[in-house]
Amino acid sequence: MVTNKSKRKAKKMVTSLLAVGMAFGMVTATAGSTVNAEVKDDTSVWSWEDASKIERTEDNTAPQITEDEINDIAPDLYVWDTWPLRDRDGSVAKVNGYKVIFSLTAEKEGITPSERHGMAKIRYFYSKDGKDWKLGGLVYDPDKALGSRQWAGSAMLDDGEVTLFYTATGRKSNETKTYEQRLAKVTADISASNKEGVQLDSNEDHEILLEADGEKYQTLEQSQGKGVIYSFRDPWFFKDPKSGEEYLLFEGNSPGLASEQTCQPENIGSPSFQKTHEAPEEAALYNGAVGIAKKGDSLSDWEMMDPLLEADCVNQQLERPHFMVKGNQYYLFFISHKFTFAPQLTGPDGLYGFTSKSIHGEYEPLNESGLVVANPENDPLQAYSWVVLPHGEVSSFVNKYKTEDGEQKFGGTLAPTLKVNFHKDESKIVNESKFPTLK
Ligand code: FRU
Repeated sequence: MVTNKSKRKAKKMVTSLLAVGMAFGMVTATAGSTVNAEVKDDTSVWSWEDASKIERTEDNTAPQITEDEINDIAPDLYVWDTWPLRDRDGSVAKVNGYKVIFSLTAEKEGITPSERHGMAKIRYFYSKDGKDWKLGGLVYDPDKALGSRQWAGSAMLDDGEVTLFYTATGRKSNETKTYEQRLAKVTADISASNKEGVQLDSNEDHEILLEADGEKYQTLEQSQGKGVIYSFRDPWFFKDPKSGEEYLLFEGNSPGLASEQTCQPENIGSPSFQKTHEAPEEAALYNGAVGIAKKGDSLSDWEMMDPLLEADCVNQQLERPHFMVKGNQYYLFFISHKFTFAPQLTGPDGLYGFTSKSIHGEYEPLNESGLVVANPENDPLQAYSWVVLPHGEVSSFVNKYKTEDGEQKFGGTLAPTLKVNFHKDESKIVNESKFPTLK
């Protein structure tokens, strides 16, 4: 098996060769180029070799979703990326017996499903049993929120106050929509009673927490409009149970000008794999990363660190990264699409995962390739945006599924819930149910 250690050894050899080359004037650095050529010491790698092992198996393929399993929680809204309110320690929160979920939503009227991303706003729902969901409404006043639309995030409850972390996408001042993304937060007081249900009362004090810096994470300008969809988004709050330290995970891209990106040997794989495999030139434009920032004095103060994981030359988007901790083991998950893999690599729309005994890695792909949950081959876009809860329950939304007549339809609501077992570096789907328990 290829370990990150051997990947790092390979990297060190490359770096020292580079240093020797530079000392003899053989290698010239391009003016203005930044650092993405090199994999950082604290960054694990999802290599071409790992990703070339991706395949659907009985253990990772979700059952096909049937129409009677779809629970439409808001018929007038498109509902997609969803996350539960969690306590500070990561367990799913209960407020007076209610579970609360937050979702990206858009009013259906007048727009096609694919236009929803341009109008996304965060609404919340609540339920006592996971079956009957009530729409609580918007979490904030969209006129006061940052960004021309708000994308995915996470929500943490402490002492009666909810902190909503979200992505501020574009700016209200932009005449045309841009794909600039910044990590933001706002807080809201929460109360719940059987009579009134769950109420959120936002103080509308929206704040930018982090912006891509061009050194650790690519800026929109550096991406030069190349590659598939730029990213600096999806902040996910995490308190490390081992150290008590707090972090935000997020989706980013490795830094540097897109036109100067290159594939490094360790992005390809082990030395023996490198001998027989080369990535096509266009693969260099694919530079997805799982970003991490550490909390300073308060929830407004975050220090950006080098990525936890990079998929340079392998995949452009490692979306909605999050952790589950089981015993001594950290499990790092993200979602990705088939169309964001570099040319010649094929992975399904799915949930991907890595594991390590230390929060900063080295991370190894689960099941050797990283694939944890795949849509079935005959309904490859049926669900997306999987989130793993503390006990292995996995929720997602119904994306473009096939009806009984073979027509493709956008679901736009919660998908059936999967249960996945994790053992060391392996996983297995063991159950599916119509409704979540949100444990
Ligand atoms: C995943 C995703 C997120 C983003 C949102 C935008 O489904 O791409 O990364 O926040 O959708 O709609």
